[in-house]
Amino acid sequence: MRVLVAGGTGYIGRHVVRELVLRGHDVSCVVRREAAVTEPLAGADVRCGEVTDLASVRAAVASQRFDAVVSCLATRTGAPADAWRVEHQANLNVLEVARSAGVQHFVLLSAICVQRPRLAFQHAKLAFERALMASGVAYSIVRPTAFFKSLAGQVPAVKRGKPFMVFGDGELTACKPISERDLARFLADCLEHPAKHNQVLPIGGPGPPVSPRQQAALLSELRGAPVPVRRVPVWLLGFIAALLGGLGRWFPGLAEKAELVRIGRYYATESMLAFDAAHGRYDAEATPSYGHDTLRDFYARVWSEGLSGQELGDHALFTKGNDT
Ligand SMILES: NC(=O)c1ccc[n+]([C@@H]2O[C@H](COP(=O)([O-])OP(=O)(O)OC[C@H]3O[C@@H](n4cnc5c(N)ncnc54)[C@H](OP(=O)(O)O)[C@@H]3O)[C@@H](O)[C@H]2O)c1
Repeated sequence: MRVLVAGGTGYIGRHVVRELVLRGHDVSCVVRREAAVTEPLAGADVRCGEVTDLASVRAAVASQRFDAVVSCLATRTGAPADAWRVEHQANLNVLEVARSAGVQHFVLLSAICVQRPRLAFQHAKLAFERALMASGVAYSIVRPTAFFKSLAGQVPAVKRGKPFMVFGDGELTACKPISERDLARFLADCLEHPAKHNQVLPIGGPGPPVSPRQQAALLSELRGAPVPVRRVPVWLLGFIAALLGGLGRWFPGLAEKAELVRIGRYYATESMLAFDAAHGRYDAEATPSYGHDTLRDFYARVWSEGLSGQELGDHALFTKGNDT
């Protein structure tokens, strides 16, 4: 297939490009900076264009024809305006250009958390999901649970003897983490399996769900001794978000910071599992599993090799600058 990838320079996008090239597809990527083009995009045709600007992305694609699009675009900041610009508008631009390029199928990397939307980026994602579903183009909307990188930030500090920080008692949330490689395979499968067309697809990694306490237990195994767990009250995040939100009325920069703290609070209190609305609870059984890579093996690798290549970004909540 001729596949156009948007967001191919990101954490998941780079693995998607590699997987599609490995499977023999003819892959083109729209990137905003040539500098972002790295070895994992090898084998793909790279085109420069600003996906946030319709004319620019149209010029980048020129008169090429494509069979399918995979979009792994995502805000890098989490700030509300950027979320709407990237998760909604840029995806709309890609969809419009894709339709004129003959695209029959659009695979969207979304997130399982949009099932209970409270944050700007979730509303932006949902607005694009709705536009995609109404577009007439076949869609596969992939909503993964947590990525491995989201659970990796504290590993180097724990290795140095620091406690593992949890919100509440460490059992408030759970997820079925998935590796970037397994998720890339799942996204590539969507192109090839008609049963995944016109579907919203929640997806997690293999094995049972893990809570933050269980993450600490995995790290205790690696350390060969119990890792101390330090509890952080959730109300602290609510308090900081309210404070920054209030001050944000006078200092707009603080309003953006308040949204980042709200994102942190959301992940401290909501599980990344399928939500059973009828019973008002998260349901691990209803969260499909895919792939082979386990969190235990991933932790062992980070324990010995560090966080290099994990691009924690907003997930670096409990990390220090020298933890790479
Ligand atoms: N982290 C988790 O645990 C988790 C769990 C479930 C779902 N998700 C979802 O997975 C998605 C992708 O995550 P990721 O970690 O792969 O993202 P990422 O590494 O931050 O990559 C984002 C991609 O979007 C591009 N992009 C961002 N802003 C742009 C702009 N203004 N103009 C043009 N391109 C722009 C980036 O290009 P550049 O390289 O040029 O910046 C990059 O290719 C997100 O939607 C997230 O919500 C995450």
